[in-house]
Amino acid sequence: MQQILVTGSNGQLGHELQLIAQKVENYKFIFVDIEELDITNDDAVANFFSQHSIDFCINCAAYTAVDKAEEERLIAIEVNASGPKILSANCKKMGAVFIHISTDFVFDGKLNTPYLESNYARPISVYGKTKRKGEVEALVENPRTFVLRTSWLYSTFGGNFMKTMRRLGSERKELGIVYDQVGAPTYARDLANAIMQIIDQVNEDTYQDIFGIYHYSNAGICSWYDFAVAIFELSNISIKVNPIRTEEYPLPAKRPTYSVLDTNKIKSTFNIEIPHWRGSLKNCINKLKENA
Ligand SMILES: NC(=O)c1ccc[n+]([C@@H]2O[C@H](COP(=O)([O-])OP(=O)(O)OC[C@H]3O[C@@H](n4cnc5c(N)ncnc54)[C@H](OP(=O)(O)O)[C@@H]3O)[C@@H](O)[C@H]2O)c1
Repeated sequence: MQQILVTGSNGQLGHELQLIAQKVENYKFIFVDIEELDITNDDAVANFFSQHSIDFCINCAAYTAVDKAEEERLIAIEVNASGPKILSANCKKMGAVFIHISTDFVFDGKLNTPYLESNYARPISVYGKTKRKGEVEALVENPRTFVLRTSWLYSTFGGNFMKTMRRLGSERKELGIVYDQVGAPTYARDLANAIMQIIDQVNEDTYQDIFGIYHYSNAGICSWYDFAVAIFELSNISIKVNPIRTEEYPLPAKRPTYSVLDTNKIKSTFNIEIPHWRGSLKNCINKLKENA
């Protein structure tokens, strides 16, 4: 049976893959996080690959603290660039497919139409720069690499904007949320399902080696303000939300003003249907309510 290695498996996306794995019978999964496998440790990764037969490696490990990365540049580079390079090189040696996750923050946000995979990546933050370097390293090391860029990821697991809003909603009567940054929220569950669909199709006899960069985010677009309003509505939280400009909420790292990803390539290549962000948000919030 084919084996799928999932690194950084205690994060949002890793957890969603763990849930899917419970229902999948045709693959064996190996889930590891930094305690079991530090992706920046060359020897440890080589040793791990020598002891396991890996067919696919999904790299969910990342340094995702966007603002802290401005200060912790070296750790961010290690995890977001050196780690993918090491994993990808080991996948190449083993003949495995490498699936690496990247971000809309590789773009500068100056476009006003959805970003294509072929658009020039010009990151404006340390996090974005390290993620872009990771994409390039991964693609160079192993031609059988998928780089899946996603945006505004959230899930019932870990910390994210959706959960922060729900917490603030129970503490405050009024909030200011930026309305001049536009993108698309992505439920990590949907992305995890898409990754499994891609793996299934790579295994089909008719699959033509179409590796490279793909964009995946939930359908539709919104501002952080719209996203927050929807989170409160779907959570039945009554709070006054004021639309504010980015400069009214200064943060260490610059964010792209517009980072909507064009997802037509992944939809047409893999026949993947992408749900609208609001329906997926509802599903996720319902899961939180069920678990409460
Ligand atoms: N979150 C977003 O809004 C967003 C948006 C666009 C793209 N993405 C990308 O999507 C992917 C998944 O994101 P996520 O939100 O699921 O990330 P996450 O929740 O931050 O999970 C990342 C996991 O990687 C682990 N990790 C850190 N350093 C490691 C190392 N050296 N070796 C092994 N594991 C390590 C982390 O452990 P610790 O928690 O102990 O550090 C954590 O468990 C990432 O590539 C991210 O860049 C995320």
